[in-house]
Amino acid sequence: MAILLRLIVVLLMLANAVNSEEVIDYRMCPDTACLVYDLYVHPCPEALHNQPCEWKENSNTSIAFKYNPDFGANIPLTQLTSVTIFMDLPFLDIDMNACLYTHCPIKKDTEQYWFYNLFVPKNYGKTFYTVKVEFWDSVSYQTCCFFFALKIV
Ligand SMILES: *[C@@H]1O[C@H](CO)[C@@H](O)[C@H](O)[C@H]1NC(C)=O
Repeated sequence: MAILLRLIVVLLMLANAVNSEEVIDYRMCPDTACLVYDLYVHPCPEALHNQPCEWKENSNTSIAFKYNPDFGANIPLTQLTSVTIFMDLPFLDIDMNACLYTHCPIKKDTEQYWFYNLFVPKNYGKTFYTVKVEFWDSVSYQTCCFFFALKIV
């Protein structure tokens, strides 16, 4: 299963290679308990110029990355959040079951892969978003978390 997921991620990265780019302009949350690296956002040709990724409404997008957590989790949960000065709002509508996006159980101190396939609906809201990508162990609440900037156009 891990190998299959890895293969799928590699294939999707290749398929998306035309306009999927490595995003280096992201920052970890202060209390994160993991490393995140090799972050690929599709589409994001803007990353070449260190600009926020631009996603169109009514389109399929994806976020893929490698991570190495300080914690393990049998039942990990995840959410995407749009961070604003006033409050954090859910970003897109994703299933909180993290096992849909990575191999479960999540293993401590091990490199693993993450892949979200996302759909941006029509009339979602054309603006800048600071997206918080987050997953955590439902028992210990240890969390892996980072932010990146995105524009929906
Ligand atoms: C998004 O992906 C789904 C599933 O592959 C597909 O059915 C749909 O047509 C795609 N939507 C757009 C706008 O490309």
